[in-house]
Amino acid sequence: MKFLIISDLDNTWIGADAATIALQQTLKEKRDRFYLVYATGRSFCSVARLMRNFWLLTGEPMLTPDYLITGVGSEIYHQGILDYYWATQISQGWDRNGVVQVTQKFPQLLPQIEPEQNPWKVSFCLHPNTKPAILNTVHEQILQLGIQANIIFSSGRDIDILPIATDKGIAAMYLREKLQIPLDQTLVCGDSGNDLSLYQHGTRGVIVNNAQSELAQWYSQSGTANHYFAKSDYAWGILEAINYFNLGTT
Ligand code: GLC
Ligand code: MG
Repeated sequence: MKFLIISDLDNTWIGADAATIALQQTLKEKRDRFYLVYATGRSFCSVARLMRNFWLLTGEPMLTPDYLITGVGSEIYHQGILDYYWATQISQGWDRNGVVQVTQKFPQLLPQIEPEQNPWKVSFCLHPNTKPAILNTVHEQILQLGIQANIIFSSGRDIDILPIATDKGIAAMYLREKLQIPLDQTLVCGDSGNDLSLYQHGTRGVIVNNAQSELAQWYSQSGTANHYFAKSDYAWGILEAINYFNLGTT
């Protein structure tokens, strides 16, 4: 039976080139025995650029994923094509204009560049002098308009507002079910706040040692036996976890 790896990109799969290359070397030998999904906050174009640059700079291509979860779960791609079923599903009850109307009232929310926005994702950077608690007020005001949204805070700075029916974890489970891989044969890998939802669905999970404080804190409060806090950084941590959970040995 195949196993499934669902990994964040920045500061997890990539971040230390030697680690990425070593991990890929190990995995390449069994490429037909697992599915690979990259689950990132980046847009599709930004992932393509990242993969091209990795290749140019290191001389090694990044492994080709079977699926891509981009924009923190707001989009799913298979062979470069957007999953319209997913798009339709998460559009239920979503009102992007309503979200924008509310957020415009908060000058502390600095809009991210246009390519990082999409029909199901409104993203900002938090003004450096602002406490993240402001997000509770933003959330309340969005709710007052009758819109249910997911507000995700990462790396002490990034804010993503998505439809309530998505985040990386929900998108990951949609793919796991589609591929019919059991929970204990699924490994999720991440380092920051937008990865937190990946760990909440009963799969195996690794938190790389270089994790951001919001994720490390979550692990110390809510981590279970399914979760492994790696001793090493970046993709070295993923390699550690593959061995720790004996993935691919059944
Ligand atoms: C990536 C995305 C950005 C998002 C962040 C955190 O950096 O480009 O839009 O806010 O991840 O999810
Ligand atoms: Mg990351």
